[in-house]
Amino acid sequence: MASILVTGGAGYIGAHTARLLLEERHDVQVFDDLSKGYAHNVPKGRLHIINLHDTASLEALFATHHFDAVIHFAAFIAVGESMQEPERYFRNNVGGSVALLEMMRRHRVRRLVFSSTAAVYGDPETTPIPEDAPLRPKNPYGESKLMVERILEWLDRTSGLRSVSLRYFNACGAEPRYGIGEEHQPETHLVPLILRAVRTGEPLTVFGGDYPTPDGTCIRDYIHVSDLAEAHVRALEHLLDGGGSGVFNAGTGRGYSVLEVIRAAEKATGMPVPFRYGPRREGDAAALVADSSKLKKTLNWKPQYETLEAMVGTAWEFEQHRRRV
Ligand code: UFG
Repeated sequence: MASILVTGGAGYIGAHTARLLLEERHDVQVFDDLSKGYAHNVPKGRLHIINLHDTASLEALFATHHFDAVIHFAAFIAVGESMQEPERYFRNNVGGSVALLEMMRRHRVRRLVFSSTAAVYGDPETTPIPEDAPLRPKNPYGESKLMVERILEWLDRTSGLRSVSLRYFNACGAEPRYGIGEEHQPETHLVPLILRAVRTGEPLTVFGGDYPTPDGTCIRDYIHVSDLAEAHVRALEHLLDGGGSGVFNAGTGRGYSVLEVIRAAEKATGMPVPFRYGPRREGDAAALVADSSKLKKTLNWKPQYETLEAMVGTAWEFEQHRRRV
């Protein structure tokens, strides 16, 4: 059993990971400023409402708890917003991470799992994308995550901080055991928007039908949030066992087009998904599919969810549960 701090643990992926860590009998503390996350996502007594820039509160937290490792989710994640307000993204995602890293050093916490993103690749030349593909973010969000990855590389060299960065592809779904799920404000992600269209009858806009893909819509690698949470636990165990730093893609290696996601949602819900085509969304790559063989081999990770229909089915279950409570 280890003592773990989860930053951003009231958010979608952070909350799933914190719950899994608790199930695996780790001692977990969560901090989150609740600017995006929800207190109801965190089990009672474990949430500290703190902002990364609040050094005094952060100091108090580190002074009263000994942490063996930190899993760092707290960040802004909206690609479009990062184009409008880049300074805010760099201050929060990079500046906030540096503040956390300074605190970790002061309190001799030497292990970190960092949530990075496929957005570090920009428009990839090859797909599936290996970790050593060129890194050319197309937006401040991706750039901010890449900057933190690079800081972590330097800290590995200079101060012995051991870290694992997981470059997420498209997280989706919900863990039925936890009763939590994806609920961003405003919602920009495909799966919850599809389910909203099912529920309300208000058509989804498909961003572009003229991409160079078989059906003309964008292809993404959808990974179930529980499988992603599991990848964090594997990364953590690797570091706690004395493993070295590394960067890993986290996806399933299978790409699905927007139309395929719509079809999977129709099967999972048994209802039609109303949609219409709109223009392309600025900054969208045609296809992003992970080569996750390194994660599978090195961290012995295997995704449990094999079909998109099953993944979307869990999101639908959450959606219905949310309406009932
Ligand atoms: N899409 C639509 N209509 C919508 C919303 C999305 O057609 O209303 C399409 C997008 O064009 C894209 C796909 O659905 O092709 C998935 O879009 P999401 O917004 O759900 O996810 P992204 O692939 O844009 O972004 C995800 C993460 C980001 C991360 C990025 C890495 O949410 O945090 O992958 O590429 F940076």
